[in-house]
Amino acid sequence: AKISVIGAGNVGATTVQRLAELELGEIVMTDIVEGLPQGKALDLIQAGAIKGYDTSIIGTNNYADIADSNLVIITAGIARKPGMTREDLIKTNSKIISEVSRNIAKYAPESIVINVTNPLDIITYIAMKSTGFDTKKVFGMSGVLDSGRFASFIAEELKCSKKDVQTMVIGGHGDLMVPLPQYTTVSGVPLTDLLPEDRIARLVERTVNGGAEIVELLKQGSAFYAPSAAIVSMVEAVIKNSKRILPASAYLEGQYGQEGIYFGVPVKLGATGVEEILELKLDENQYEILRKSSETIRNVISQLKV
Ligand code: NAI
Repeated sequence: AKISVIGAGNVGATTVQRLAELELGEIVMTDIVEGLPQGKALDLIQAGAIKGYDTSIIGTNNYADIADSNLVIITAGIARKPGMTREDLIKTNSKIISEVSRNIAKYAPESIVINVTNPLDIITYIAMKSTGFDTKKVFGMSGVLDSGRFASFIAEELKCSKKDVQTMVIGGHGDLMVPLPQYTTVSGVPLTDLLPEDRIARLVERTVNGGAEIVELLKQGSAFYAPSAAIVSMVEAVIKNSKRILPASAYLEGQYGQEGIYFGVPVKLGATGVEEILELKLDENQYEILRKSSETIRNVISQLKV
């Protein structure tokens, strides 16, 4: 397979590193900054001699090099600074992603597109519109990361292995995300049998603020180790056609009472992208958060010129 990563910053380059180590296919990494993708590609190629991988990695400023990619991952744009919300990024990132998307449509018209750039659900919509691709081929990474954070907090609280925690976080990728304790298990044992409600509620709240917690600590830039790990698990599901059920920002056509917007829902991921959207039964307060978050997303989208 040929995988292209747009944006050679923290998330993009770390994703390339993880993909290269897995030898999932040849990789192209692009950025607007001259020398940046080339330098990082050279470094990552040399790491292969030590780590033991032969993955082809090309760093470039030229979109023509993404030609015929099977999969394109968008990580270009600006990230949050302390005190900023993901929505503060919209003006700059929507311009960048419209241009990026037109180039994807031009050079890699058959590709599956995974968007990572924030504000996630809005930018994923823009990527779908500006590529003109089928909605099933364009989706966003959010819930896998948020679920990873929730799982990590649960494991810490229970003093158990993170590997045994299975969970799901849906909704908008922001303050209105919806972690789902009722669909969370530890090796098959329901979380709700393992922890009292108030302790679960604290973990839910920490999950919703999980990104901001890291932004505050870093003082510059935002998370990229867990985000890149989340991207790679989605890439693997597509490249290997494994039909994994993972949360993704997907285009809704009536599911969860929503139409014409993107937000996080459980999907079946395979070679053609989002192969199915799963509709889970939720609590009334969870539906309420979903309604609020979809309203916010819809308002922003209605003001976009795409
Ligand atoms: P970064 O600042 O380290 O990297 C962004 C890169 O994009 C830079 O190298 C920059 O030169 C490049 N870029 C800017 N304009 C471009 C253009 N027109 N064409 C090509 N490249 C361009 O930022 P980082 O940490 O890698 O984050 C990237 C994006 O991903 C941000 O919007 C961030 O908010 C988002 N993000 C989303 C997550 C999610 O869960 N969906 C998780 C983590 C980050």
